[in-house]
Amino acid sequence: MTRSRRFALLAQRDINQETFVEPWPEAGLAVVDSPGDPLPSLRIENGVVVEMDGKARADFDALDLFIADHSLDLEAAPAAMTTPSQELACMLVDINVPATVVRRLAGGCTPAKLTDIIRHMNVLEMMMGLGKMRIRRTPANQAHVTNWREHPALLAADAAEAGLRGFAEVETTVRVARNAPFNALAVLVGTQTGRGGVLTQCAVEEALGLKLAMKGLTTYAETLSVYGTERTFVDGDDTPWSKAFLAAAYASRGVKIRFTSGTGSEALMGNAEGCSMLYLEARCVHIVRGAGSQGVQNGSISCIALPESLPGGVRAVLAENLLASMLGLEVASGNDALASHSAIRKTAKLMLQFIPGTDFIFSG
Ligand code: 5AD
Ligand code: CA
Repeated sequence: MTRSRRFALLAQRDINQETFVEPWPEAGLAVVDSPGDPLPSLRIENGVVVEMDGKARADFDALDLFIADHSLDLEAAPAAMTTPSQELACMLVDINVPATVVRRLAGGCTPAKLTDIIRHMNVLEMMMGLGKMRIRRTPANQAHVTNWREHPALLAADAAEAGLRGFAEVETTVRVARNAPFNALAVLVGTQTGRGGVLTQCAVEEALGLKLAMKGLTTYAETLSVYGTERTFVDGDDTPWSKAFLAAAYASRGVKIRFTSGTGSEALMGNAEGCSMLYLEARCVHIVRGAGSQGVQNGSISCIALPESLPGGVRAVLAENLLASMLGLEVASGNDALASHSAIRKTAKLMLQFIPGTDFIFSG
């Protein structure tokens, strides 16, 4: 078949070279509304959750138990669970309803109830909600400061510039693992020279990360990862309690911590248990809250290519940012990993966090 040159040229555009996949809910390849998602429910007896989202307490997995016992606000729950989801969605958009009122009710919503609220919202409404629910008064940004030679003076100089340019947090990573303390020190000295008060991170594996923080070489940690199913936790030799313990270890030295979660991780690890990405993320943000973290890095993060290739993926990423802010968590909304090769699609995704302003629009 002959094709006009016009269509041949259009096909070469980045936006027309994107890869899309068909939803496959059984494998976790559905961003929202999977047939495997539970319906919202909550039963409390003598101050204990005996049923949540269709599951009896005896059947709870580790995540359900942690959420029910440590995150759900049982005082707010009766009002929250009996308020129609559509009404909660309207409250998020209505400028006459203060953030504190929405936040109190959100704390009493089970993961399935949180997911249900999103069913009633389009992206414009979610952006309104996110602008209202943001924790920081002013949005901020995080920068990466790295140096191919890992030269401390160059790292310090770049970190000083990042401070001067207004970045609130600076993250460094390492080429050679044993350089981590040196890089952390260089970035710490550099940022404080540029502008006092900038927080710094050195992203390395968890034990070394904690050691650097304990020695005072870093002032925040960010990748305390949590996942939405028990199997994914087990694969990482973790539980919600071990993550909470790690967070407490940082907190004991006054180090700021931020958890990381995001749509797509469970499906990528083959353990989505037939649930939608957004429902699993709603469980994650509840775990983050229950663990006592002040905030979360979410919005799919390193897994972004997967939701972006599914229908409704960009909307779901905004939705997870909104859920986190509703639960009172400071949100660092990703936008650091490559989401697409198309400048148009990259911009389309970014605008959803950039216009309302998340706490950290870029997380590095
Ligand atoms: N879920 C959980 N943790 C994530 N990270 C990135 N994306 C996700 C996600 N979707 C964490 C991992 C990774 C770091 C960059 O952030 O710990 O190593
Ligand atoms: Ca980061």
